[in-house]
Amino acid sequence: MPAIVVVGMQWGDEAKGKIVDVLSRHMDVCVRYNGGPNAGHKVVFDGQTHVHHVIPAGIHNPGTLCLVCDGLVIDPKELSVEIDGLRKRGVRLDNLHISQSAHVIMPWHKMVERAEETKLAEGKIGTTLRGIGPCYADKARRWSAVRMGDLVNLDVLRTKVPPILQHYNAMLACVYGAEPLELDAVLAECETYAKELAPYIGDTQALLQDAVDAGKRTVFEGSQGTMLDLDQGTFPFVSSSHPIAGGACLGTGVGPRDINEVIGVVKAYTSRVGEGPFPTELHGDAASNLREKGREYGSTTGRPRRVGWLDAPCLSFAARVNSVSAITLQSVDVLSDFPTVKICRAYRINGKEYTRLPSDRSLLNLAEPVFEEFEGWTGDITGAKSMADLPASLHSYVATVEKVVSAPVAIVSVGPGRDQTILTDAGKKLLPFLSV
Ligand code: IMO
Ligand code: MG
Repeated sequence: MPAIVVVGMQWGDEAKGKIVDVLSRHMDVCVRYNGGPNAGHKVVFDGQTHVHHVIPAGIHNPGTLCLVCDGLVIDPKELSVEIDGLRKRGVRLDNLHISQSAHVIMPWHKMVERAEETKLAEGKIGTTLRGIGPCYADKARRWSAVRMGDLVNLDVLRTKVPPILQHYNAMLACVYGAEPLELDAVLAECETYAKELAPYIGDTQALLQDAVDAGKRTVFEGSQGTMLDLDQGTFPFVSSSHPIAGGACLGTGVGPRDINEVIGVVKAYTSRVGEGPFPTELHGDAASNLREKGREYGSTTGRPRRVGWLDAPCLSFAARVNSVSAITLQSVDVLSDFPTVKICRAYRINGKEYTRLPSDRSLLNLAEPVFEEFEGWTGDITGAKSMADLPASLHSYVATVEKVVSAPVAIVSVGPGRDQTILTDAGKKLLPFLSV
């Protein structure tokens, strides 16, 4: 009975959506455990591209139970749009269930976040402006939080919202000089979306526990990435949830020993959106070239992503914090035709060499990467079907990455499509159901 966590090993956008989709076709349950509409998980098949924000990427497999669990923050309006979009494309949603304990992103969360980011100016975090941070902050503050179960209970909502709105209106007026929100308008909007979402809202903990007890195959779909984890990432330039594998327990109610495998998703190079340290970042033409080849523009915000080489101290940290069983190496096709490819094996900070990620993450702002350079590979490899079809220099790159993370590469991905997924020998052992 595998229960597998799929976790991003970098700063997000590692192509977790593709891997979760590929796995979900063999899984009984697909679970989102963290984040919210800041995520953009892409699934490509039959000439169509679906971008998921909150709905699990497993929804395209009609037999898979899809759970949006407690650890998420949900914008009812955005979720309704996502549901409508999928429905219009003929995707069945009968298997979708949303936790009553997930938190609701209210209109004031987005307003406050926009105002804060504007005020911070140069010091901003560069968030997705989806209200993620303020919503999680209310969860931690507790009295001012609204959950999905409250949204569909109008009596509760009518009691809960007025004091929260009063608090936020005072803040919006005094701190940011913004217009107040109208109570009736807020409640009317909630009512509209509550009606639409009510059929999906329920007890996902019970559904998941039953599935685990029945030995169902489950994939936990992490959003964001390890370096964006609130506690373990490059604070304060992080998101406000727990993308790491441990977050799968926090965000769903499943215990650590019910998880069998953790698959770390690694893009063959690195990207980051928003502000914050990025030691291996490329600039100028080198950056534009890689960005265009990899079409590195945000699937949620459309922002151009910052791009750079692989970062060994970050990856080995991510491998440890997530206890990865294996990793998948994504987008190796994008690096084709680069004469050489580089991996940062250490940082030089104030004259000292660090091979380990410093726990004072702010030191990364001073880090000069110490690169190792490898021979690149050439040609179109997007049609490769097995490891034997891949060039020798790419095999060496895979072996080097395996050394960095002290774990095997189970999958090499040569494009966004389902059939562009190569299982290695290690992958065949770990995920035998994928080879049939
Ligand atoms: P997926 O799941 C990449 C980044 C934002 C910003 C920081 C905080 O598609 O990999 P937030 O709005 O979460 O408070 O923003 O986190 N960020 C992501 N970057 N991929 C994501 O998700 C991200 N979700 C948030 O750009 O730097
Ligand atoms: Mg994304």
